[in-house]
Amino acid sequence: MFHTVICDVLGIRYPILQGAMQGGGGVELVAAVCNAGGLGVLPTYGAPDHKLRASIGAVRALTERPFGVNIMPMGRGITEQCAATCIELGVPIVTTGRADPGPDVVRRLKAAGIKVVSVIPTVEHARRMEAEGVDALVASGTEAGGHVGSVATLPLVPQVVDAVKIPVLAAGGIGDARGFLAAFALGAVGVQMGTRFMATVESDLDDAGRARLLAMHETDTIVTRVLTGATVRCVRTPEIVAYEEALAAHAPEDELAELKRRVRGARSGDSQAGTRTSAAGQIGGMIHDVPTVGELIQGLLSDASRLAQTFPGLAQR
Ligand SMILES: Cc1cc2nc3c(=O)[nH]c(=O)nc-3n(C[C@H](O)[C@H](O)[C@H](O)COP(=O)(O)O)c2cc1C
Repeated sequence: MFHTVICDVLGIRYPILQGAMQGGGGVELVAAVCNAGGLGVLPTYGAPDHKLRASIGAVRALTERPFGVNIMPMGRGITEQCAATCIELGVPIVTTGRADPGPDVVRRLKAAGIKVVSVIPTVEHARRMEAEGVDALVASGTEAGGHVGSVATLPLVPQVVDAVKIPVLAAGGIGDARGFLAAFALGAVGVQMGTRFMATVESDLDDAGRARLLAMHETDTIVTRVLTGATVRCVRTPEIVAYEEALAAHAPEDELAELKRRVRGARSGDSQAGTRTSAAGQIGGMIHDVPTVGELIQGLLSDASRLAQTFPGLAQR
């Protein structure tokens, strides 16, 4: 049940991707998702090449299943280096996030036999990535943790599905069987989840990070450019709120720069400020436990099977 075309394209058992999570999911999480039948994806955002090589080796030591590496285009040099390393090490799947890595990079990855899955926030971006030859898309709504666009998952997914011919997965605000089934109803052939996977035994969040996640409400996130320059949905902290308020009030540059430093915990004298800052999605408000990845995936699938009985058409997919 729930075997779809994306399982065949990526060589996975269940149509569940763990979205790459800088600061939220390391090698153990990635391998655990792969071993549980989904696709685990390593983050690379800003990581030096030797660290990426070590992480790929560590994932391979923990799983024999296909895994992914995320390329987050943040500059031509880093993007090309990351792609070259994936090609050299025979990484089976690359996902791209935040922006288009460029047709040359996609062509090189494809020529090396790597499957490429692009996370996209709009129909236009979806069409561009399809034209560049990627194998599948993840339509990610603004509910998601991490870099986001402005369109919500519910309107985005069907519009992307209607606009392209390649398989589309849904992301943003999916954390249990209800969201999983909703993705299929929207025309997706699977899901990518991020925030939900952070609250697992295998994620690399510390105890304080897990406690923060368990205490979250659906209103506890904020979209800000203060972290990377692009719009990121993260946990709403007093430091980020202060920055956003000053920005809205057209505060002078030096005041904004100081508030930005405080967001990152630097020079603020508050060592908690930096560690409190974490990307997270609106789904955080419905996370109440910390299962193992295996328990999470099996629980989601069995709940979905039961729920699907009320939607016989979905159960056949
Ligand atoms: C802590 C965190 C870090 C993330 N880092 C990345 C990243 O490095 N690259 C990327 O493409 N997406 C990143 N994302 C987005 C996730 O891969 C995924 O698409 C998103 O979390 C899905 O939405 P959800 O959080 O509602 O499940 C991140 C998300 C979170 C929560």
